[in-house]
Amino acid sequence: MFALNFNNTTMHIFYGKVALIAYLKTIKTENSSVGFVPTMGALHQGHLALMQRSLNENDDTVVSIFVNPTQFNNQEDLAKYPRTLEEDVRKMRTLSDKIILYAPTVEDIYEGHTVSQSFDFDGLENQMEGKFRPGHFNGVGTIVKRLFEIITPTNAYFGEKDFQQLQIVKKMVEKNHLPVNVVGCPIFREPNQLAMSSRNERLTPEERQEAAMIYKILTEVKEIFQTKSPEETIEFVENSFKNNTKFELEYFVIADESTLLPIDHKNKDKNYRAFIAVFVNSIRLIDTISLN
Ligand code: PAF
Repeated sequence: MFALNFNNTTMHIFYGKVALIAYLKTIKTENSSVGFVPTMGALHQGHLALMQRSLNENDDTVVSIFVNPTQFNNQEDLAKYPRTLEEDVRKMRTLSDKIILYAPTVEDIYEGHTVSQSFDFDGLENQMEGKFRPGHFNGVGTIVKRLFEIITPTNAYFGEKDFQQLQIVKKMVEKNHLPVNVVGCPIFREPNQLAMSSRNERLTPEERQEAAMIYKILTEVKEIFQTKSPEETIEFVENSFKNNTKFELEYFVIADESTLLPIDHKNKDKNYRAFIAVFVNSIRLIDTISLN
């Protein structure tokens, strides 16, 4: 364990699971609750909002910072993923010195065997991110399951920007009978409405401004979808990107919110959601909006 002293307060930082598990044992009581926010660091306002919610709703809060190699299908993306531990700690301490940080090494998590377990998420894994990032959700399932086993949280907080990930984590918890309540939290946006993401740090200031178009299109989609078919709505999005030389559309999908299957017609009893992935140079940005 590593304890940071600051104005007579101490924040607990653990780099290894053995010490973390031992520490959690000393603070947990039968009726106390532990909130958990898993992250890959490069913290932004969206992460801090998840942490604040956990602090409000639980006796103790654990945050993990771990860039999980098994969920990256693109090695360049993994290598370039921002790693800013010191700055992250500073940001967390603006919320509370009571946050317990787990920042493990790859060895501590994978114990020399850095591979994913194979999961069946009832098909949720075959759409969108799963289709374009092969193996991604096996990597996410592997790390989240391992972190849940180490931390044994009462509540775990995930952002809705990665809506497919949120549904998959809920499915993993259900199928493995894990005693944790998975809480989905609203997307945090920059002042220009770009969804907050650690990858935004890699955009130039100009690209970051222009990326506002992603959410602008999604709000237009929501409007258009009220009167037009899914096919016409998709056509509108594809046309919006056709002449854009800076932003390349990877996918735009309108899907049933519970199955994540793309739809070709509307049914008024169902909830729908639009999902988008866009490349700006080699930086991949995703966003989503509820269409109901
Ligand atoms: O959403 C993320 O940052 C990651 O996928 C997660 C949940 C921390 C697992 O590595």
